[in-house]
Amino acid sequence: MNLAFDQIGNVAILEVPEERKKEAKQLAAKIMDTNKHITSVYAKGSAMAGKYRVRKLKFLAGEKSTLTTYKESGCVFELDVAKVYFSPRLAFERTRISNEVKNGEKILALFAGVGPFPIVIAKKLKTEKKTAEIVANELNPAAVKYLRQNIKLNKVEEFVTADKGDAAKLLVKKKKWASRVIMPLPHTAEQFLPQVIDATAKNGIVHFYGFGPHRNEKTKKAADPFKKLEAKIKALCKKKKRTCKIIFKRVVRPYSPFSVQVVIDFKVL
Ligand SMILES: C[S@@+](CC[C@H](N)C(=O)[O-])C[C@H]1O[C@@H](n2cnc3c(N)ncnc32)[C@H](O)[C@@H]1O
Repeated sequence: MNLAFDQIGNVAILEVPEERKKEAKQLAAKIMDTNKHITSVYAKGSAMAGKYRVRKLKFLAGEKSTLTTYKESGCVFELDVAKVYFSPRLAFERTRISNEVKNGEKILALFAGVGPFPIVIAKKLKTEKKTAEIVANELNPAAVKYLRQNIKLNKVEEFVTADKGDAAKLLVKKKKWASRVIMPLPHTAEQFLPQVIDATAKNGIVHFYGFGPHRNEKTKKAADPFKKLEAKIKALCKKKKRTCKIIFKRVVRPYSPFSVQVVIDFKVL
């Protein structure tokens, strides 16, 4: 059996191919048999959707509970997979960024969800006896509840402050404040870029997540997934009379037959 599933703590979320829908419950039971830590199995009932980026789930096997505890980089996260966005597939990105943060930074962790980016960063800084001021912003009230809980659980209250509401409202109050801005909302992050540039201090770094084509849908020829986004970033910086320098880019993960999720790090001078 070669089935793709995400494991978030003790909950498995399974992608059931159309042709195997009838055997979904048996497949779920098999996952539980072979993975002793999994106590609940759900099937993806939709794509991530809506402004909170949450998907519908269909119960398949085990305990009927969507509450879970997930561990990453020495941090613990409590969350409800039915009410908030969470992806273990971004763990590499969280580690990568946490390795770049310097002592004394001021960080806007936008679209923070239950807090994996700000908390992984804060925990590392705390271990290294460094400091930082991190504002973690999130719109979904259910995610903010877990974000606050997880800040306490990981004992990083002196590093991370939770801010509930629209990122746009926070950004207007933070002009030239941030040494670093993290933007993990690939569907709509582009619309926040002008305000993010305004909120970035001289030499500050922005970690921008977006989607780009890796193949042309019509010609099927290979495409550059970064090209359009880089051009947009440069044009917006120019409009704001700031110079920007792309300092890093990578494909984060496949997204659809023709597009991939990418991250572009740029410095605002
Ligand atoms: C793709 S998720 C990323 C969550 C988290 N950073 C993670 O890696 O698990 C994007 C998050 O942005 C939040 N969001 C969407 N629009 C927002 C807005 N205008 N202001 C603040 N947060 C927003 C969603 O509720 C969601 O939790």
